[in-house]
Amino acid sequence: MNNLKDKCVVLAVSGGIAAYKAIELLRLLTKSGADVHVIMTRSAQEFITPLSFQTLSSNPVHTELFNLISEREIGHISLADRADLFVVAPATANVIGKIACGIADDMLTTTVMATKAPVLIAPAMNVNMYTNPIYRENEARLGRLGYLFVAPVCGALACGWEGQGKLAAPEVIFEAALAALSDKDLAGRTIMVTAGPTREEIDPVRYVSNHSSGKMGYALARAAARRGASVILVSGPTCLPVPTGVEPVLVVSAREMQAAVMSHVNRCDVVIKAAAVADYRPVERKTTKVKKQHDAITIELVKNPDILAGLGAMHQRPFLVGFAAETDNLSEYAAKKMKEKNLDMIVANDVSQADAGFNAENNRALLLFRDGRSEDCPLMSKDALAERILDRIATELNGDRG
Ligand code: PMT
Repeated sequence: MNNLKDKCVVLAVSGGIAAYKAIELLRLLTKSGADVHVIMTRSAQEFITPLSFQTLSSNPVHTELFNLISEREIGHISLADRADLFVVAPATANVIGKIACGIADDMLTTTVMATKAPVLIAPAMNVNMYTNPIYRENEARLGRLGYLFVAPVCGALACGWEGQGKLAAPEVIFEAALAALSDKDLAGRTIMVTAGPTREEIDPVRYVSNHSSGKMGYALARAAARRGASVILVSGPTCLPVPTGVEPVLVVSAREMQAAVMSHVNRCDVVIKAAAVADYRPVERKTTKVKKQHDAITIELVKNPDILAGLGAMHQRPFLVGFAAETDNLSEYAAKKMKEKNLDMIVANDVSQADAGFNAENNRALLLFRDGRSEDCPLMSKDALAERILDRIATELNGDRG
């Protein structure tokens, strides 16, 4: 799942300095299509006004327990029933303690207790409260009961202390919300994704590379993690943050990528090679900066190892998905690559147009399968294409095609 279209999310805000960050979380939730209903505790209203949440959610904000939405509906039960997901952010030690002990004495705690939707809790508090054994026991108890947590991060806290207790970033909580609502059809699988470009150094300051941003590979890694897979992300240099729950292996050159891939491949069920590996590297890397002495210079290049072909030649190999970036004869060249590299599936990318492929937000592709089937994927976000590719992989792995 890469959006929250048609989902009803209850966002419960409790009292803490981080309450203002719930505004950004609300923005991410509504942008992704969710119908968001906000509950605020009395102390949350000391930090931020209901009007901000009401304006951004386009829904009335719930602050009182005994407030009839209509003559026939009781507010907290109605909200609890309608929720597809319940997010408590920020959640104070007090609110978490009450939920853990089954205390329902205000709109927030009563609605949490009445809901059957998954509940995602993002704590924020002083570091000593967070490490207090009473709090730890409450969190562990809720964890055992299936409540989901997004751990706070370390940093300077509003109370003056340093340590773990800062509310996780709104983007991280949003990602956890998507994960909470995603089918876990890849649970128990280990998937390696390669992403980004490789850099082949000429000297200490220059390199040969390409325009890959890593967005396609990172979207695949993020989506696979949401769907329950253990994900290893072997990434060339990019500016992207490592997705939550993903094991990063950061490399620079093609040969480093090859070493990383080969050292992890034996524990993988699937390898998806979205990386744009540099086909050639300079024969020699100069140890000092090459001086501008001549009008023209020649750099001799040598072929890099083909990592994907190496995987395809393995005696016992995982399910292999390659990518093919082409500017012409897309289907023909991609099919040839799939055959030559012994792949199960290939994602053929037409990179001749600026709106897709390298360093674009969106992508369009032709999926080719080993048995000759093909599927056209029109222009869509890289997140959506990642979900589509994983749908097909899950079908092949779980053998439920047709
Ligand atoms: O990173 P983005 O900006 O989001 O852009 C995404 C993308 C365009 C880079 C991606 O969608 C894509 O098409 N990646 C593959 C690019 C590429 O290198 O294609 P290729 O046709 O040169 O290689 C074919 C396959 O062999 C690829 O799976 C590649 O990872 C693999 N390969 C290639 C060379 C090599 N030495 N080793 C390899 O494993």
